[in-house]
Amino acid sequence: MLLSVKNLNAGYENKKIIDELSLNVEKGEIVTILGPNGSGKSTLLNCLTRYIRPMSGKIFLENEDIYDKSIKEFSKRVAILSQHNSLTGNVTVKQLISYGRLPHKKWYERKNKEDYEIVKQSMEYTDTLQYENKFLNSLSGGEQQRVWIAMALAQTPDLLLLDEPTTYLDISHQIELMKLICDINRDKNITVIMVLHDLNQASQYSDKIVLMKEGKIYDYGTPKDVINYESLKNVYNIKCHIHENYNKLIITPIDVDRKI
Ligand SMILES: Nc1ncnc2c1ncn2[C@@H]1O[C@H](COP(=O)(O)OP(=O)(O)OP(=O)(O)O)[C@@H](O)[C@H]1O
Ligand SMILES: [Mg+2]
Repeated sequence: MLLSVKNLNAGYENKKIIDELSLNVEKGEIVTILGPNGSGKSTLLNCLTRYIRPMSGKIFLENEDIYDKSIKEFSKRVAILSQHNSLTGNVTVKQLISYGRLPHKKWYERKNKEDYEIVKQSMEYTDTLQYENKFLNSLSGGEQQRVWIAMALAQTPDLLLLDEPTTYLDISHQIELMKLICDINRDKNITVIMVLHDLNQASQYSDKIVLMKEGKIYDYGTPKDVINYESLKNVYNIKCHIHENYNKLIITPIDVDRKI
């Protein structure tokens, strides 16, 4: 077990969003969190990254409470790509990706040959070496996403958390990014937990799905276990046709009230 969440309650000021949530994630899996807007997906992810301190409950990374680790130790193991990446000031692609090495260095230590090698490999792997001297804000949204992923890779984490990584990307760049995420998971044995909105993509690329509703887990399991007419009706209030193609689910929402 890589990650274990036990009876988590979390939210903002006095407003509780995540409600007694428990979840176990196996090493090496791709887990996708699905759920309507406002159901608490980002809040849950923000707890896993220590961005939000839980009101109660525990989060364990390989049996160790994440709050028992120093921030630095924690950052060596967990990388995050948040929903709204914000960056102030001009920074080049290479500089940004190099930041991924920071958790591995002491404050007085300079980057060594190994660090530069890891940064270069991360750029090659994500096909961003070509932009190394460009400023991040001069790249397109899809190119920027690959750079953020390269930075996360340079961190050499065990766990990669991604909040809606394909938002704003066209369909071909969405597929490219999903493939990159799957390659990273397989080649580098990095466990992935991500938030997606596209039910078909989630079914296609995930080992497990966490279906959330109002701060709780409605269901957790393989795509086939979790996604069905009943669950989509109960969680999203939509009616869908669901069929299988090459052992993957195809989900098509149906608008029953529409007059043709
Ligand atoms: N910084 C914040 N301060 C106060 N309330 C917040 C904050 N961020 C989120 N919330 C509230 O918490 C609830 C859950 O938000 P969250 O961002 O976790 O949802 P989500 O499932 O990620 O939604 P989306 O699909 O729209 O990204 C919402 O009602 C939201 O208004
Ligand atoms: Mg969100």
